[in-house]
Amino acid sequence: MDNFVTLILAAGLGKRMKSKHPKVIHKVCGRPMVEWVVRSAKEAGSQDVVVVLGHGANEVKNVLGDSVKYAYQEKQLGTGHAVMVSKDLLPDTGNVMILTGDTPLITSETLKKFYDFHLREQNSITILSSFFDVPDGYGRIVRDSNGNVLKIVEDKDANDVEKGIHEINSGMYIFNSDYLRKSLQHIGNNNAQGEYYLTDAIEIVIRLGGKVGAYQASSEEIMGVNTRVQLKDAEKVMRKRINERFMLDGVTIIDPDSTYIGPDVVIGMDTIIYPGTIIEGKTTIGEDCEIGPNSYIIDSEIGNGCKIVFSMITESKLHNNIKLGPFAQIRPESVIHDNAKLGNFIEIKKSVIGEGTKVPHLTYIGDAEVGKRVNMGCGSIVVNYDGKNKHKTIIGDDVFVGCNVNLVSPLKVNDNAFIAAGSTITDEVPEGALAIARCRQTNKEGWVEERRKKGGL
Ligand code: UD1
Ligand code: CA
Repeated sequence: MDNFVTLILAAGLGKRMKSKHPKVIHKVCGRPMVEWVVRSAKEAGSQDVVVVLGHGANEVKNVLGDSVKYAYQEKQLGTGHAVMVSKDLLPDTGNVMILTGDTPLITSETLKKFYDFHLREQNSITILSSFFDVPDGYGRIVRDSNGNVLKIVEDKDANDVEKGIHEINSGMYIFNSDYLRKSLQHIGNNNAQGEYYLTDAIEIVIRLGGKVGAYQASSEEIMGVNTRVQLKDAEKVMRKRINERFMLDGVTIIDPDSTYIGPDVVIGMDTIIYPGTIIEGKTTIGEDCEIGPNSYIIDSEIGNGCKIVFSMITESKLHNNIKLGPFAQIRPESVIHDNAKLGNFIEIKKSVIGEGTKVPHLTYIGDAEVGKRVNMGCGSIVVNYDGKNKHKTIIGDDVFVGCNVNLVSPLKVNDNAFIAAGSTITDEVPEGALAIARCRQTNKEGWVEERRKKGGL
């Protein structure tokens, strides 16, 4: 198989983003722009990816790790120069695809067709071009009367006739390796911007006897992101793609315009997503669930048949047929077993909730293991923090915790115990026992009448 290597230009700062961070690590649907490009290149069959770094090099490296190789361009002297500094990492034979790190919408399908076209045409260079109604700012593809590509002229160097051309250069190309190396030796910087233009390679290669063509892509896919307004535009297109993929795979999304699902999320068949829901990170959701409205789920695993309403779940696991919310929060490292019912205004943190357990309203459970078929009364609280340290609470199976109970940790409540409402429990409760820990009630007969007479009420 021929070498097929991708070079991604990402050394620029992207001034118009007005950011402390390099442009290409800004995220689209939760994934850095440059990572979208790397993935598309690899999915299109590129064996190796080299990324040219400059501004914010370490930040980009932190994002991409060792999934790619890196070249370093100390000063950004132009796109041609960016390729020159990378040439030791590029193969001597085969083909090099050149992409930019700020075009997250380019798909692997298009890149694959682009590569196939390049091979089929036996081109020395194939340019990925597109037609723009407003081509301002882009390099224009200049063709002869037979339609053969002659050159690319930069907007700043174009004359009036050339400015009227609507076929633009996306900044993406496939070069035959041999011709790439040869043309780099001839690229100079005698132009309006004093930069080494990669686009000059077109004329150079034609002069050297090579063949140049262009493959046309949709303007949507080659859209570059230069500002945060364009970042929002890219986000919108990507979100539509993601949501449509879920819908075609059997997930109902009531209002895709207000539903935000990350690219790594997995959702089972016949699950319904209601408006205002955000699902991020490595989240998986099973079949037949109802999620939302207005729920926020991050890096969590949710089984089948769960119903989650107006709630937030972070880094936790919910098994099957769980009802959650409205207005509940499940904080990291929690595990909720089958058929549990977690109602409104409850918070669970780093705790296990057993099968069939009910936590219907106004409860906090932290650092606890709660058994099966437990009933946590309204307003019951696990007091896990003594102001300095967190302590653990263990509640057995079939325990009944009355309303407004404080369970002061560390604590163990054994199976089948019953805790009277309003108790503050500090000691272990034996199996099957009733624990009451509050003052007895005293009724003072006639007290109100007497007090009134004295003028006290
Ligand atoms: C380039 C093309 C232009 C095309 C446009 C598409 C040239 C001379 N022009 O113009 O024909 O229509 O892209 O967006 O190539 N970069 C580096 N190092 C550098 C310079 C740029 O890594 O020294 C990177 C940038 O980070 C960016 C990409 O290359 O990702 C394109 O650079 P940019 O300056 O935006 O090129 P344009 O002037 O837009
Ligand atoms: Ca650009």
